[in-house]
Amino acid sequence: MEAFRIQGGDRLKGTVSVPGAKNSVLKLMAAALLAEGTTVLRNVPEILDVRIMCELLRRLGCGIDYDPAAGRVAIDVPAEIGHRADYELVRAMRASICVLGPLTTRLGAAHVALPGGDAIGSRGLDMHQAGLEALGATVRLDHGYFIAEAPEGLRGTEVRLEFPSVGATENLLMAATLARGTTVIDNVAREPEIVDLCTMLARMGARIEGIGSSTLSVTGVERLSAVEHRVVGDRIVAGTWAFAAAVTGGDVTVEGVDPAIMTTVLEKLELAGCRISTGEGETFRVEGPERPHAIRVATLPYPGFPTDLQPFVVTLNAVSDGLGMLTENLFEARWRFVRELARLGAQVSIDGRHAVITGVGELSGAPVEASDIRAGAALVIAGIVASGITEVTGVDHIDRGYERFAERLRALGARIERVAYEQRSLEELADLADGGGREGTSS
Ligand code: EPU
Repeated sequence: MEAFRIQGGDRLKGTVSVPGAKNSVLKLMAAALLAEGTTVLRNVPEILDVRIMCELLRRLGCGIDYDPAAGRVAIDVPAEIGHRADYELVRAMRASICVLGPLTTRLGAAHVALPGGDAIGSRGLDMHQAGLEALGATVRLDHGYFIAEAPEGLRGTEVRLEFPSVGATENLLMAATLARGTTVIDNVAREPEIVDLCTMLARMGARIEGIGSSTLSVTGVERLSAVEHRVVGDRIVAGTWAFAAAVTGGDVTVEGVDPAIMTTVLEKLELAGCRISTGEGETFRVEGPERPHAIRVATLPYPGFPTDLQPFVVTLNAVSDGLGMLTENLFEARWRFVRELARLGAQVSIDGRHAVITGVGELSGAPVEASDIRAGAALVIAGIVASGITEVTGVDHIDRGYERFAERLRALGARIERVAYEQRSLEELADLADGGGREGTSS
């Protein structure tokens, strides 16, 4: 096991570059399945989830050429591909469910294991199921697998999502591209990553209207062609750096993301006392205050405040000069992280969907454990502002979504290293409890 060991007390200063978005690239890789030939993606982040997706596509029969250093992946999709995504991979990464739409529409069958994924709530698949059924597939659950079948192909229809689910929007959108006739999907998610997916699909030959709006109209085509595409910058990683500057009273310039897709986040940071400068193109600067003001945030689908940044809001409020509030409207179990933050001295009380956070003068370093990608990154940032040493275990969660996180933090002035972390066995703990060894010790 590994951990990040952080010596707290530094303000982050400098420039950091942000790669392509995890939550876009994984879906773009799945979209490659829709077309025979070689799809090339650029600005691909060097993260664990991309490797898992490469393996999933490889097992479906695709040839993969992934060059992490160049941020490039080439996916060679043959005429014949498999239709089964194994539990081993889907369990490791919930986003694997996004192959469901492409496989069902291209092959008329998909067997995808039900995901596990992050420990952030129940995250149902009912809208994925209802949407595919409306498109003419039969869907059933069999021995832990989600099985969708449409031997005659899918046909266009009207679907209204109960809630603008990111995953359901993506699966149904991709399924509709090769369906017969027109599919109108109402109340879709409008995240920039979905716009990115629509943009690539349109370049592949898909006929999509309403890109970026709440209603997508997709007219199915016979076939799509493989293209080259640059992945949109990761606004959640960019937001992580922005909050890191705010929490540590630092001064960070973020490159690689258009600040126009982060308006809600940057406005909240201004309320926290940050100075935000946006220039031309994909860059912005965040100058943090001596001590942030407490802020009130409610997470909502885009263009609302992203749920993926809520652990950073809690961290900022924890060191603020007042009483902050966070309402989590998307994932009911995203509070596990709060218990860990409390180990650093944060004062947070939870009532249902609401967290009330009382700012304290200082956090104090302690060992803590990451429960998901964002919680992990937020605990690291809390460690940078805490006094003394903080050790964050569960770094594999952080690796899933953050490219060379410790290296980038060091470049901004943080004292952080990746260390081996020994998990003691029960026998060793018993030994310790006995005073250092069971044999020959007396008290
Ligand atoms: N939901 C249902 N039924 C469905 C679909 C969703 O009840 O059929 C519920 C979920 O249980 C959840 C809510 O709707 O409470 C939101 O789910 P959504 O489908 O929008 O999210 P997702 O596609 O599972 C993606 C991101 C998440 C991000 C959410 C919300 C990927 C791979 N994941 O998940 O990112 O939090 O959208 O923006 O794109 C992360 O990157 O750390 C992460 C968790």
